[in-house]
Amino acid sequence: MHQKFVVNGGRRLTGKITLSGAKNVALKALAAALLTDEQILLENIPLITDLKLMVKIISSLGVEVSFYKKNQLKVHAQDLKKAKVDLDMGAHLRTSSMLLVPILRRLQQAIVPNPGGCRIGARPIDRHIEGLRLMGIDVSYNSADGYFYAQNKKLVGCRYRFSKNTHTGTETMILAAVLANGQTILENAAYEPEVDDLIRLLNTMGANIHRVEPRTIVINGVKKLHGTSYRIMPDRNEAVTFAIAAYVTGGDLIISGTQRFLLKSFLEELDGANACWEPVDEYTTRFYHQGKLKATYVKTGPHPGFMTDWQAPWCLLMTQAEGESIIHETVFEDRFGYVSELCKTGANISLFNPKVKNPEKLYNFNWSDNKKGLFHALKIKGSTPLHNAVMNITDLRAGATLVIASLGVKGESILHGIEHIDRGYESLDTRLNALGADIKRMTEKSS
Ligand code: EPZ
Repeated sequence: MHQKFVVNGGRRLTGKITLSGAKNVALKALAAALLTDEQILLENIPLITDLKLMVKIISSLGVEVSFYKKNQLKVHAQDLKKAKVDLDMGAHLRTSSMLLVPILRRLQQAIVPNPGGCRIGARPIDRHIEGLRLMGIDVSYNSADGYFYAQNKKLVGCRYRFSKNTHTGTETMILAAVLANGQTILENAAYEPEVDDLIRLLNTMGANIHRVEPRTIVINGVKKLHGTSYRIMPDRNEAVTFAIAAYVTGGDLIISGTQRFLLKSFLEELDGANACWEPVDEYTTRFYHQGKLKATYVKTGPHPGFMTDWQAPWCLLMTQAEGESIIHETVFEDRFGYVSELCKTGANISLFNPKVKNPEKLYNFNWSDNKKGLFHALKIKGSTPLHNAVMNITDLRAGATLVIASLGVKGESILHGIEHIDRGYESLDTRLNALGADIKRMTEKSS
């Protein structure tokens, strides 16, 4: 059932909001929970459709999983009966490929679909597969049916250097190494804080994992992992979405739930843009509109750089900044799908390709995945008064940006495709309405 948001914009957002648990930890915690036959209790789980789909997938494998109290999940993988993750579920979820290792450990074989996720580029998993093979897993891809087939010999620890940063690739190798024979050293490993939250969860289960340098992780294989209960870290992406909603609606929001070091590059860019914020306590920060914003030049990159998931909301903010801003997206090759929609509100944004000496080195995506006609940078002219529009949502973070844009403009806007929003934001409309927004969720009339 397709739904839309009908937004009556131009209202200031004010008040306090608490962040949900991080989607990009919760999904992996479910994969990690399958590495033990004891019960795992996960707290601060976001009630989002990606999470509910991951729950559906692991229960289809024969695992006991149930929601228990609000935002709490009990997983008990006493039995794991099925080795194959169905394409019709797994192909929509980037993290379905992370089930390969837990299934393999139990059943000595695993069949998982080529993962999907937001359509923001090719998003292959070559770096994951290369590492798994080095650990002794025999894995091949059948392009005829879209599945990876893996057989298990003994998983043996190895030293593996990622050719380039990969967030879920690092996490996949950690899941493979925690119960492998011997030591695994991951070099050029992802440094995203969400990876460290997964490491903390696994270590409470009895794993032996240490980040010895920013991009080097050492895992000493152990015999067994045991049950635990764990509270997922807050969602940094939500923090940025709500903060920018405060600015574009001329509002004043107190956002609680995350420490500021997790938002360092965002706060630094806010300072560069003259956007106002102030600490309230260790876990709470106030973001409020005051005075004129200044244009900025932002380049996205792996942590501790400016996160690619913050690129779309930042573009919206820069439409309200005086001068010409530049955003250079270096992580995904095709992450500007929202720009044409945002321009329907009157935003003045053009796409271009900056001169880059060594694109294979600069870009996090495989340069071979770059296609003719793709742009990797934006020029945003501001400040531009925006107006209401009818917009189509194509991916999660872009969708949230279009919702925030519609809040900041007077009059009625309509947003189609809000299933993309529900994939990653728990009750976004309800929570924004509690801050003064006027969003109605309506079922699309079947055309
Ligand atoms: C994770 O995606 C997040 N998703 C993304 O969040 C996030 O934007 C991204 O990391 C960067 O932090 C989840 O954790 C579920 P990558 P992931 O592997 O792991 C290319 C959101 O909105 N690459 O670090 O898929 C890849 O195509 C989502 O919540 C290869 O070419 O990101 C991309 O261009 C969006 N081969 C770049 O590298 C590989 O084997 C970074 O990918 C792996 C990656």
